[in-house]
Amino acid sequence: MGISQKMQEALVGQIHSEIYSVNQYLTMASYFLKDDLNGFANFFLVQAQEENFHAMKQFQYLHDVGGSIQISSIPAPIGEFTSIKNVFEVTLAHEKKVTQSISNLIKLALEENDFATHAFLQWFITEQVEEEAVVSNIIKKLEMIGNNSSALYLLNDELAKRTFTPPPTAK
Ligand code: FEO
Repeated sequence: MGISQKMQEALVGQIHSEIYSVNQYLTMASYFLKDDLNGFANFFLVQAQEENFHAMKQFQYLHDVGGSIQISSIPAPIGEFTSIKNVFEVTLAHEKKVTQSISNLIKLALEENDFATHAFLQWFITEQVEEEAVVSNIIKKLEMIGNNSSALYLLNDELAKRTFTPPPTAK
């Protein structure tokens, strides 16, 4: 099994973007940890683990099809946020960009007649639907909560329960 130069370059770009996501979500976890909002922090720590899993899954696939990667520098993540809701808005905007970039990879795989990569990417596009939905739902909850701090702590408790479980078929 081989991979075209063009497809390899695009996948390498995606791996860099997943590593950027790890850094972005660790930055967000830190933002919450400094205010002792451990549940919100947990949400982003789990998110960072998921992103690392995405990067590793793509890394493994790239090598399975005979490709390789040279890791280059990763841009600094956004580090300033205006509110809790703003953190989730930044997250949603970022995930929408990721969805677009996975869609572009799928288009390229078809153009290249690369059906293996096309099949590989299906898992990621389904994952994006879930990620966008989860974050949109939290933004709606935060809008309802407004300035009600006890409701905010209830959401914090809910987010504390999130755990990272790699899919059973994960390589
Ligand atoms: Fe790796 Fe959040 O997509």
